[in-house]
Amino acid sequence: MSNDELIAAARAAAAQSYSPYSDYAVGAALRFADGSVVTGTNIENASYGLALCAETVAVAKAMADGVRGGLVAVAVVGPQDKGNGAPITPCGRCRQVLNELAQLGGTDPEILCVGSEVRVVQLSALLPHAFGPEALD
Ligand code: THU
Repeated sequence: MSNDELIAAARAAAAQSYSPYSDYAVGAALRFADGSVVTGTNIENASYGLALCAETVAVAKAMADGVRGGLVAVAVVGPQDKGNGAPITPCGRCRQVLNELAQLGGTDPEILCVGSEVRVVQLSALLPHAFGPEALD
C-alpha cells in the first residue's frame, strides 16, 4: 500500500470516529513490514478524560491480534477544517504507545501527519530519548 493509500485508509477510519464531545474526528492507519494495515479512530466518553485516541486504538487492535513488531509507517488524519491546515501530530501519549510497538520490532516508523500538506517525520524525532521496553531489560 502506498503512502497515499495509507492516508486514505486513515481518512476512512475517521469516518467511524465516535467524537460527539470534541467534534474532532481522527483516523490512524498503521502499515507493517508484511504489507498489512490496521486502522483506528478516536473513541470518546461521557467522562471526557477517558477518550481513546485513534493511534492508540489502532495499536491496541494490532496488538490484540498478536502483532509485536514490524511497524513501518503510520498515517494520522484529523478534520480538514480545523487547525488552519497544519498537519496533525500524534499526542504525547500516542507517541509513547506507538513507541512500544516500534521498539518491540526494532523499527523507527515514518509518521505521515496529514494537513493541507503531509509532514513526514520519524517517530524517533517526535519522541526523542524514548523510554521503552529495552529500558526494563
Ligand atoms: N486525538 C486523537 O485521536 N489523536 C491525537 O493524536 C490527538 C487527539 C483525539 C482525542 C479526542 O477524541 C479528540 O482528538 C480531540 O482531542
